Amino acid sequence: MAELEIRNLHVRAADKDILKGVDLTASKGEIHALMGPNGSGKSTLANAIMGQPNLEVTEGQILFKGQDITEATPDERARMGLFMAFQYPVAIPGVTITKYLRMVMNAHRDARGENEVSLKDFRKLVEQAMDLTHVPRDFSSRYLNDGFSGGEKKRLEILQLALQRPEVAVLDETDSGLDIDALNTVAHGVNTVASESDLGVLIITHYQRILHLVQPDRVSIMYEGRIVKQGGSELVEQTPARRRRRRAPCSRRWTTTTPTIAAACTAASTRWPPRRRSCSRARVSASRDG
Ligand SMILES: Nc1ncnc2c1ncn2[C@@H]1O[C@H](COP(=O)(O)OP(=O)(O)OP(=O)(O)O)[C@@H](O)[C@H]1O
Ligand SMILES: [Mg+2]
Repeated sequence: MAELEIRNLHVRAADKDILKGVDLTASKGEIHALMGPNGSGKSTLANAIMGQPNLEVTEGQILFKGQDITEATPDERARMGLFMAFQYPVAIPGVTITKYLRMVMNAHRDARGENEVSLKDFRKLVEQAMDLTHVPRDFSSRYLNDGFSGGEKKRLEILQLALQRPEVAVLDETDSGLDIDALNTVAHGVNTVASESDLGVLIITHYQRILHLVQPDRVSIMYEGRIVKQGGSELVEQTPARRRRRRAPCSRRWTTTTPTIAAACTAASTRWPPRRRSCSRARVSASRDG
């Protein structure tokens, strides 16, 4: 049985239906990649999994370790072993990283019926996690995410993952905005935690490059609030390459870059792919040129 099971999930926010019947699972020891265009509902799904209060579940269920957690608070979900690395990690001025990490670690130990971590053990664990994620030691005394660069914030999310050792982690665009060194660090962190603790990962991304480093067992594609295609890692190679060095010639652009995702989304809606305006412009200029 999958650790995390999403059944026919419908979610609404600000009177807008965003998720329209999502079925998805994340199992221990499995890497599941979730891809899809901007605005398709990926972060909404991640936030609904973590119980963000401004999202209304209008239909369906979220099950974790066999328990229905659809109505559980974010804190209860985290204590049960769910973890989320946010697309936009928030800063908490006034709370140092050390204080925050110790508080979170003790909350998790409390949930497992364990004593508070000793200062000595805590230091050792944090230093190990900092080495793994290449977070400089002197960051400990800085306020959480306050004044951190984008890459530093993302590495700090993985540091928290390494310390918390959850059962299932949702990583929402943890790779976006990273240079190649930071990307390798993040991927190495995820792979290390996954291999040491049998972690289940739902990794949300637009990019193939992280999925070459953190190889998914399964790939799902979301479009307009629904999963429109599911498959194995072969789907990764068939999704659009977002950073193309050269644009393909206009007439070949869709067929050369987006066969699977475009086909899946076309089947779901006639508005995808968008009209190729540059093609008609090219035709006009060609006819003008004679
Ligand atoms: N709290 C909210 N209130 C109103 N609309 C919302 C809310 N949260 C999300 N939406 C809308 O739901 C849609 C899906 O947003 P979401 O952030 O889930 O997309 P996404 O797939 O994560 O996109 P991206 O790839 O750009 O991160 C968007 O149109 C967004 O504006
Ligand atoms: Mg998003």
